[in-house]
Parts: sequence; structure tokens; C-alpha cells
Amino acid sequence: MNTPAFHRREFLRFLAASPFAVSAIAQDTVPAITRAIDALNVMDFEPLAHKALPPAHWGYLSGGVDDDLTVRMNREAFAHYQLRARRLVDVSKTDLKIDVFGATWDMPLYVSAVGAQQAFHPDGELATARAAKAQKAMQMLSTVASKSVEDVAKALGTPPWYQLYMPTTWPETEKMVQRAESAGCPVLVWTIDLLGGRNAETTARLARQDTRQCLSCHVTQPIGGSAVERNRTRPMFAGLSGEMNPSAADWSYVDRLKKMTKMKLLLKGIDTAEDAKLAMEHGADGVILSNHGGRAMETGRGTIDILPEIVDAVRGRLPVFVDGGFRRGSDIYKALAIGARAVGIGRPYIYGLSSFGQEGVERVLEILRAELTLTMRQCGTPAVAKITRSAILRQGAPL
Ligand SMILES: Cc1cc2nc3c(=O)[nH]c(=O)nc-3n(C[C@H](O)[C@H](O)[C@H](O)COP(=O)(O)O)c2cc1C
Repeated sequence: MNTPAFHRREFLRFLAASPFAVSAIAQDTVPAITRAIDALNVMDFEPLAHKALPPAHWGYLSGGVDDDLTVRMNREAFAHYQLRARRLVDVSKTDLKIDVFGATWDMPLYVSAVGAQQAFHPDGELATARAAKAQKAMQMLSTVASKSVEDVAKALGTPPWYQLYMPTTWPETEKMVQRAESAGCPVLVWTIDLLGGRNAETTARLARQDTRQCLSCHVTQPIGGSAVERNRTRPMFAGLSGEMNPSAADWSYVDRLKKMTKMKLLLKGIDTAEDAKLAMEHGADGVILSNHGGRAMETGRGTIDILPEIVDAVRGRLPVFVDGGFRRGSDIYKALAIGARAVGIGRPYIYGLSSFGQEGVERVLEILRAELTLTMRQCGTPAVAKITRSAILRQGAPL
């Protein structure tokens, strides 16, 4: 019985008795994902991205702050909500379209700002733009992008939303805002959750494990190096000092920014009803409920748990956008049911980008669209406008 087949059977029996059984057998029997189309859900791209990226870049992508508790809470909080499905509704046609500032979006999902995308794929934000164009999704471009707003607008076929990390002086802020406006960006998104600094421990720990010579690509070491010098090499800081995120900023900055531009102004990083109301009072055109994917401070609240408080505070007078931990169409559905206008994703599309470039990002968007469509059909709400709070429970109780 010394045949190779016998050895294999014996080996599998040994594995079944071993504590590593599940992962080893899974590796042995589950076909590898070699094409983006093979992915069944967006989480399938995560291990592929991990494998494709060097430790420092994986750390930058996956890490949060402190103990990464808020990263976990963003995901876990979705389990606090259940769906109430209605039957015998005609769901033969579905309509995912929404209106955002007078523009029609094909679906209530967008790719949120993620900096330095060349760390994940040589085409960086241009690959993301091509995928967003193919999937008819809105792209928000980061201030610390590897590609310029002008080049991304060309690849996307329309100007992206521009995410602002505010430079520390007003003249530089004006230059950056004017550049985004001249490129045709319809919306300026000021990110306000990093003004106090952050402690990105996982990112720093994994960067230390990276044995490559960082200075062959970066102008400074990722740890201990100057972020200002690194910023100066980024296209959106051309001619600027690289200093950003003024810690003295207060609500008067919103008034001044609002006067500076014709673009719609959104505040990204609103986490409380009080600040949502202040945003409204200071002329913001909308708010983005976000904890930066758990990368700003360790608040311990998942954004979906904060959403009811924000939606109730603005009472329909401003659109509320939300991001943080969205990985399933049913997650998006829950946010729409609570009252969000649209949902942003960060890491999922970067997993796709890291694994398969443009195709990977496309597949992530395609999967989420398909899952959301399915949930809408299953719940008997075939159009976004039909999704209301009656479709959702929190811990079994109406919201
Ligand atoms: C690697 C990485 C870089 C990011 N860079 C930015 C950025 O430059 N500007 C910004 O406003 N948000 C940035 N974010 C936050 C995202 O826009 C978004 O809020 C967050 O990723 C959503 O959570 P999710 O990753 O769980 O989907 C970044 C997120 C990640 C993962």
C-alpha cells in the first residue's frame, strides 16, 4: 500500500487530527483565486493583498490605531442589526440609482480616499479611476495620492471628489482648493479627524519587520522620517511646503473654507450628533460619518452604531454619507435603511487593487453591487427610495 494515493490519505488523516487541520485542509482543497472573477466576496481579496504586499505596505493598509479595537468594532457592529424582509413584492426590476447634489449615481456606493495607492499597485489611483469608471462609481481622491487630480480626472472620465488634508497656512490651502476647483471637482471633502494626530502602532510595528531598503522608493524612512518631506514629493503638494492638518483648526475654519470655493463642502470624520449639527450651522453641504476606518483615534464605536444619531441630528436637511467596515451588500443596505445617502469603502477596493489592479477594484465594486441588489430583492424593497427604517431592527427592537 505504499502508493502515493495511500500516502496522501494518511497525510490527510494526520492533518485532520492536527490543530492546524482547518487551514491546512482548506489550502489543500480550496482552489486558489488566480483571477479577480474567481472571488466570491470582497473578503476573498484580503489574504491575496496580504500576500502581494511587503510588510510595511500591508501594515499601512490593514492597521488602525492603538490596539486596532475601532477597526474591529466597525465590522462587529453590523451584527447589532437585523433585517425585516417583506414578501410578495414585485422585485423583478431593481433600481439602485440615487441623487447626490443633482447628479445621478448608478449605485449608493463610492470609493473613499486612500492615500499613496502606488504602494499597492504601479498604476495606483489611475487603476482605481478606470475601475470606478467601468463600474460607474464615484471616486474620492486623497490629498496624499500618488497621482494628480488632473490625471485621475482623465482616467475617471469626470473629475473626482477631492479629499482635503488642509495645509497649515491659508495661502497654501487656497492654492490647493483652487487647483481642485480648476480641475472641475464638484465636491471638496475636508477630513477633520486627524487634526489631533494619531498613534498608528500596527503600521509602525509592521514597517519595522520590513527588511527592504525603504529609501530606494521613499525620501525618508517611514518610521522617524519626516511626513512633511514625503508630502512634498506628492503631486498635490507641488509648490507647497508639505505641512498639513493644522491642529489649531476650529469651526471658524469651516466658514472660511466654505467662502473660498464654489465646490460643495463636506466634512469627513463627523462622529457625534453635536458635530453634525455644527456642520450644518457652519454651512457644510453634507457630512461623512467616518472614523477613518479606525485609523484616527480609538473611539471603540462602529460607525453603523453612530449612524442613527447623525441621521436624526440632521433630520434630512443634509445628506449623510458613511464609511467604516462595509464588506457586504447587506451592510450597505443597513446604512441605507438607517438613513445614509451612500456608503464609502476603503480597504476592500485596495485589497482588489493590490491583488489584481484595475480588475480587482472592478470585481470588488461588482460584488458589492450584486450583493446589495440581492438584499434589496430579498427584503422586498427593489428601489433605494423604498428602503426605510421599517426594514431594520437594532438588537431586535425598532430604531
Ligand atoms: C490605507 C488607507 C489610507 C487612507 N487614506 C486616507 C486619506 O488619505 N484621506 C482620508 O480622508 N481618508 C483616508 N483613509 C480612510 C478612508 O477614506 C475610509 O474612511 C476608510 O478606509 C473606511 O473604512 P474601511 O477601510 O473599513 O472601508 C484611508 C484608509 C486606508 C485604509
